[in-house]
Amino acid sequence: MLEALLNTIDRDARQQNDWGKVASYIPELACVDPAQFAISVCTVDGQEFHAGDYRTPFSIQSVSKVFALALALGRLGDGLWERVGREPSGRAFNSIVQLEVEEGIPRNPFINAGAIVTTDAVLGRQAPRDTLGEMLSFIREAAEDTNIHINRHVAHSEQATGDRNYSLAYFLKSCGNLTNDCDRVLGTYFHHCAIEMTSAQLARAARFLCGGFGHQRLIGIERVRSINALMMTCGHYDGSGDFAYRVGFPGKSGVGGGIMAVVPNVASIAVWSPGLDRYGNSLQGTSALARLSRETGWSVF
Ligand code: DON
Repeated sequence: MLEALLNTIDRDARQQNDWGKVASYIPELACVDPAQFAISVCTVDGQEFHAGDYRTPFSIQSVSKVFALALALGRLGDGLWERVGREPSGRAFNSIVQLEVEEGIPRNPFINAGAIVTTDAVLGRQAPRDTLGEMLSFIREAAEDTNIHINRHVAHSEQATGDRNYSLAYFLKSCGNLTNDCDRVLGTYFHHCAIEMTSAQLARAARFLCGGFGHQRLIGIERVRSINALMMTCGHYDGSGDFAYRVGFPGKSGVGGGIMAVVPNVASIAVWSPGLDRYGNSLQGTSALARLSRETGWSVF
């Protein structure tokens, strides 16, 4: 039944005439063809289902912030919450305005300012190369796949045009909320955002957030719950309420058009379609998850 449903969702996605717009502020992503779609589901009983372009790697971008958060919580434990909040921001992912008003404490770990802080926490005193190695190992272990890499062209492309993130990092630094210098933190941040995965790999990697997969014990169940709560409330920025309303389970988007989603104790999911809506979240990817939730009854509510 799931296999047929995913094939139908894939076919219908391709018949829509609005793919949304690809992210243009990262030059390497601006040239991706928006008319692509992939969906992958791993169920807790060990089955996998895929449809569409599920073998095509894409830039996971902000989805990497979930892995950065998992590692930052491992480093600082609940001490992380002195440096970053747990509330939806109601603003764009790269917004600056709240950061000054709230004295350099980003609203949550998924807006850019928050992820720059979690990246700094994971870096600690390590070399960026070691931190990136640690993140890649975590993701490869979660996905049980060593063929997951960073696309350096994408990282350098973002670094060259990343003035907004530089401004966020310098402001955080001026408030005493970065321990490393800005170049070091952003170099690491741009590189983890530039990790590439297929939807099949990303759905497998998301099993660590799902519970129920006996062999996926990368982090404790209480951390799994915390991360899922944050994905539910903040995972789609100022589109998080709409995502919760339409889809009904936690998800994290990226401007590469990927979304990693979790139905606790039931399934982990990844969708990809590079065209974005006005919030910077995958247009067809979100519609596909809404349809999947409707037709399967999967929801946390
Ligand atoms: O920092 C940035 O702007 C990008 N590397 C990531 C932003 C992103 O993916 C927002 N998500 N939808």
